[in-house]
Amino acid sequence: MKFFVDTADTAEIGALAASGLLDGVTTNPSLIAKSGRRILDVIAEICRLVPGPVSAEVAATEFDAMMKEAAVLREIAPNVAVKVPLTPDGLRTCKALSAQGTMVNVTLCFSANQALLAAKAGATFVSPFVGRLDDIGQDGMELIADIMTIFNNYPDLKTEVLVASVRHPIHVLTAAKLGAHVATLPPAVLRQLFHHPLTDKGLAAFLADWAKTGQTIA
Ligand code: E4P
Repeated sequence: MKFFVDTADTAEIGALAASGLLDGVTTNPSLIAKSGRRILDVIAEICRLVPGPVSAEVAATEFDAMMKEAAVLREIAPNVAVKVPLTPDGLRTCKALSAQGTMVNVTLCFSANQALLAAKAGATFVSPFVGRLDDIGQDGMELIADIMTIFNNYPDLKTEVLVASVRHPIHVLTAAKLGAHVATLPPAVLRQLFHHPLTDKGLAAFLADWAKTGQTIA
């Protein structure tokens, strides 16, 4: 399973990339706004920090305007994945960009039928938003289960399921059990995955015992 980080904060991305466990980055207009920086600058910097796919979202809503913005975004670096919303114009844009060999992430997916449409449009990634479904009392992970069942029924569909709007490690665990290809995590959730109190406790005990030996290794 690939782990992307969902942020436009380049300090966070740099620190997490140093772990060697970061496979990509997703951004959206809200995250770019939060960064307070120009989209072209921040995406270029992220693409230098992480060699994997970096999603940069169009702000236009009509096909011609989306194509124009996509042309600018994909010029930033070869690892840009152009992010388009799951609308008729977004899917048309997805189809056209995919045919040109551009990576596309179809975002704001809230149903399995929408995911199927994104796959038929040739999306590299489709992003179902689990947390936002949970927020309105629907089971976000049930959507991932439905999409995985459908995609597994049609092995010709090459679109990767990118679990988005992740709120906590249980979302990650369930997504992995379901075989989702990617999860994009807020930095805090990604950091949570590393930790377990018994790891901390065990390490403290080992170090205390080691100190008693008076030995050094290097
Ligand atoms: C995914 O690409 C989106 O940027 C993101 O996961 C949305 O998450 P949110 O619902 O926490 O805003």
